[in-house]
Amino acid sequence: MTKTVLTTATGSPVADDNNSISAGERGPLTFDNHYTFEKLAHFNRERIPERVVHARGTGAYGTFTVTKSLQNLTIADFLQVEGQTTEVFVRFSTVGGGQDSSDYARDPRGFAIKFYTQQGNYDMVGNNTPVFFLRDPIKFPDFVHSQKKSPQTNMPDPAAMYEFWANHPQSLHQMTILMSDRGIPASYRHMHGFSSHTYSFWNDKGERVWFKWHFKTDQGVETLTEAEAAVRPSHGVQQDLVEAIDAGDFPSWTAKVQIMTEQEAKDYQVNPFDLTKVWPHSDFPLIEVGKLELNRNVSNYFAETEQAAFAPSNLVPGIGVSPDKMLQGRLLAYQDAHRYRVGVNVNQLAVNAAKCPVNHYQRDGAMAGGCPVHGGENQGSGANFYPNDRINDGAPAPEPLVAEPPMPIEKDAWINRYHTDEDDHFSQAGDLYRLMSESQKDQLANNIAGGLVHANRSIQSRLLAQFENANADYANRVRLALSILK
Ligand code: HEM
Repeated sequence: MTKTVLTTATGSPVADDNNSISAGERGPLTFDNHYTFEKLAHFNRERIPERVVHARGTGAYGTFTVTKSLQNLTIADFLQVEGQTTEVFVRFSTVGGGQDSSDYARDPRGFAIKFYTQQGNYDMVGNNTPVFFLRDPIKFPDFVHSQKKSPQTNMPDPAAMYEFWANHPQSLHQMTILMSDRGIPASYRHMHGFSSHTYSFWNDKGERVWFKWHFKTDQGVETLTEAEAAVRPSHGVQQDLVEAIDAGDFPSWTAKVQIMTEQEAKDYQVNPFDLTKVWPHSDFPLIEVGKLELNRNVSNYFAETEQAAFAPSNLVPGIGVSPDKMLQGRLLAYQDAHRYRVGVNVNQLAVNAAKCPVNHYQRDGAMAGGCPVHGGENQGSGANFYPNDRINDGAPAPEPLVAEPPMPIEKDAWINRYHTDEDDHFSQAGDLYRLMSESQKDQLANNIAGGLVHANRSIQSRLLAQFENANADYANRVRLALSILK
C-alpha cells in the first residue's frame, strides 16, 4: 500500500508536523515557519457564526416517499406519483440555547426538511408545534431577546421571558404548549413536526388551495418531566438519533396535510393565516400523503449539519406561500442569515446544492467554486446577463409554464398597520387546556409557576388574567402552584 503523504493546504508535502523551525535548540521561532503559520491561521478561522436561533442541532439524510399522489392539487414534481421517493436532509434543533447548550431545554424544537427535488430544493422549515408565539415578524427580535440570556449577567432570565408573555397575549397558545408535559421531547425521534404556517398548493389548472404540513412520528410521542430532563447528558438527544440510525433503526414520520379551499378561507371563523392558531382537525381533517424516513448519518458534522442552510423561501413550482405575515418576514430573514453566517455562495456547498442543474446569471462572490450542478467553475464562459442572444445555444431562459397563479388579497384592502390586540388570543389555549388530563394540568401549572415566581407581581397578575380568559381553572391552578413556591 502506498503511504499517504501529509501536505500543506496547497498540496506540497510536509516533512515534519511536530516541530517548528527555531533558531537553535532553545531559540525562538523563525519567520520561515509558513507551515506552522498556515495551521494556526486556519485554526483561528475554524468557527462560523452560530445560527442566531436554533444554534444547537443534529442532521441526517433520508427519503420522502409519496403514499398518495397530490397531482390534483399541485404540480410539485416530488408529490405526483405514489411510490416516488425524494432524497432529504433533515435538521432538528432546540431554539433558544447556543451551540453548547443542553438538548433537553424546555424549548420548541426545530424540524427542518430539505427535499432535493428534480425542480430544485424545497425546504419545509417547521417546528414541533403547530403554532408559534407571534403573528407579526416585527416582534421576533424582541421575543428572542426576552427568551435568551440576560444582557447583563449572560444567564437565563425567566422573569424576562414572562415579562414578554405578559405583554403579548397572542403568545398564550404556544406558551401553554411549551409549558405543558409536551414541552421537553424525550428525543427528536419521538416528536411530531409541523409547517405551522399555511402555504399554498397550485395545480396545472392554476387553482390554489391553502395547506399545512403535519409529520406524525411513527415512534410515538415521548416526553420528559423537568426532573427527568435535568439528569440527562446534554448531548443525549443527538446521541439517540445518531445511534438509532447507525444501528439501522431508522426513524420515520407519516406526512399528512390539511387542506382549505380559498372559499373556506374567506368564510372560516379563524384567520387561516394567523400563526398563533390551529385549524381544528374536525373541520380540516388530516390527509395522509407520504412517509419520511431518516437512514444515513452525516459524515462530517460541520460540513453538512452546521453549514446546512434552510429557507422558507426555497420553494418549487406547485408550492407557494400565503399571506401569513410571519411567513412573509421569514422569506427575507433566512437567506439574509445564510449570506452572513456561511457566505453568498452557500448554495454551492454539497449539503445545500440542488440535485438538478442550476442555471442562472448570478456570478462571483467569496468562494465562487466548482460546484458541478452550478455549471462548474463559476459557470465558466456562459453569458452573465439576461436577456442575451445565446438562448438557442443553451443559455438559461425563464419557463412561463411554472408561473404561480395570482394570489388573492382582500378586496379594497388598504395599506396600513393593523393591530390585533382585540383578537381572540384565548379560546384555542382554553380548548387545549380542557383537553388535558388532571396530571397534565398540574404539570402545566407547576412548570409555569416555576418560572413565573421569578417575575414581579404586575407580570404575574397580567399573566393570571390571561389564564383566566382561557379557563378559570387554568388560572386557579397556576395561582395555587405559585402560592406554594412563594
Ligand atoms: C418572523 C419570524 C422568524 C424569524 C425572523 C426567524 C429567523 C430565523 C433565523 C435568522 C434563523 C437562522 C437561520 C440560519 O442561520 O441558517 C432561523 C432558524 C430556524 N427557524 Fe426561524 N424565524 C422565525 C420564525 C420561525 C418559525 C415560526 C418557525 C417554525 C414554524 C421557525 C423555524 C426555524 C428553524 C427550524 C430554524 C433552524 C433551521 C436549521 O435547522 O438550520 N422559525 N430562524
